[in-house]
Amino acid sequence: MLRFGLCVIAALGASLSGSPQRGREIYRNGGNADAPTIRAVIAGSSQPLEASMLPCASCHGSDGRGGNSESGAKPPDITPLTLQQPADVGTRRRAAYTPALLTRAITLGFDASGNPLDRVMPRFQLSTRDARDLIAYLAVIDRETPPGVSDDALRIVLLGAPTIEAPATTLYGRRIELVRTPSPDALITIDADAHGDAQLEAAERERMPTVVLGAKHPPPGRHGFVLTSTESERIAALRAFAASAGHASVVATDCATLRAADAQTWLLFSATTLDDCGRSEPELADRHVIIAFAYPPDAAGSEQLVRAALERVLAALADAGRDVTRETLLDALERPAPASTSMSTFGLLGWSRQRHVGFDRAWLATFDARSGTLRAEPGWSDVVR
Ligand code: HEC
Repeated sequence: MLRFGLCVIAALGASLSGSPQRGREIYRNGGNADAPTIRAVIAGSSQPLEASMLPCASCHGSDGRGGNSESGAKPPDITPLTLQQPADVGTRRRAAYTPALLTRAITLGFDASGNPLDRVMPRFQLSTRDARDLIAYLAVIDRETPPGVSDDALRIVLLGAPTIEAPATTLYGRRIELVRTPSPDALITIDADAHGDAQLEAAERERMPTVVLGAKHPPPGRHGFVLTSTESERIAALRAFAASAGHASVVATDCATLRAADAQTWLLFSATTLDDCGRSEPELADRHVIIAFAYPPDAAGSEQLVRAALERVLAALADAGRDVTRETLLDALERPAPASTSMSTFGLLGWSRQRHVGFDRAWLATFDARSGTLRAEPGWSDVVR
């Protein structure tokens, strides 16, 4: 679940030092050099876990503004102005927090009015010093530069596509830094995975803007973006091709239909459907087979796609301006792309507020069972939206 919890983040904000800086490391990483093994107890378990597996930021967000949860209570906003006021949180009504009451909440799980906190909120075993550091950081968390932004760099996580180097561009006096492992201290994550559904869910949970190359389903929320077409659009492209082919054909969207189809008909299906068939692949020899892909399934294709994604992100960062945050970056990604980046060999990238799924084309290829290869016929086809 908490993907970012396990990695150690070296990048630290320039402005903090001393106690709040140590507190920041606890907040983001679950520990620091002086307190490497803080423990926490979760949800009724008697066995404490390392806090590095569930740092505060993984639930409350690296900006402290609260987060999403898969189930149960939603991690609330814990920025100072919110904690200093009485508030209704979920079904609880609580008084304003003082530093001592805040320490009690984090270590013993009672809010400022003594109500027990939901079991989703871990109980952290903090030394007096760790508690002091963490509280010192929580007092200034809203004054920090946003995640992924420092005085001289904008940080992008790029997973996969190792040959791609950081662009030489500077934006508003900051260079672009590419981080190669998952990190919460970034503005956005570009993940070269073509099966990105799990990443899209994590993006929502961790409130990390994330671009993946492909996914079976549209993103579940605002933070995820898919570069390619959707599965239903690829099926529609196959149907359009079948209608124009002038030969009896079957568009199979499940494995049973795929196997049952008459040997004389042309057999059309998407790569996803074939994946779903698992090991019991249908017999494709001596048949006319056309498979729909999001993009040509060779490595060069995916690297080009990652470049297109990076280019789009850089344009959005430029558009978002000097004071970019994840929020304003999301806004910029939902605006039409500048003409120079919106076109690529793959098609037009049509992200908008309503739609986070990308290109307007699918790649249809003819499968030659004898050689086991794909021919780009009919090739790129417009998808129907
Ligand atoms: C696994 C997710 C998770 C982690 C990790 C987590 N919290 Fe929470 N936290 C929650 C949830 C959920 C609530 C709300 C509980 C409720 O409403 O009963 C909460 C509540 C709180 C509250 C009470 C807020 C209020 O308005 O009453 C504070 C303060 C808090 N967390 C601080 C922290 C700090 C500091 C850390 C790290 C040391 C941390 N949390 C780690 C999920 C988490």
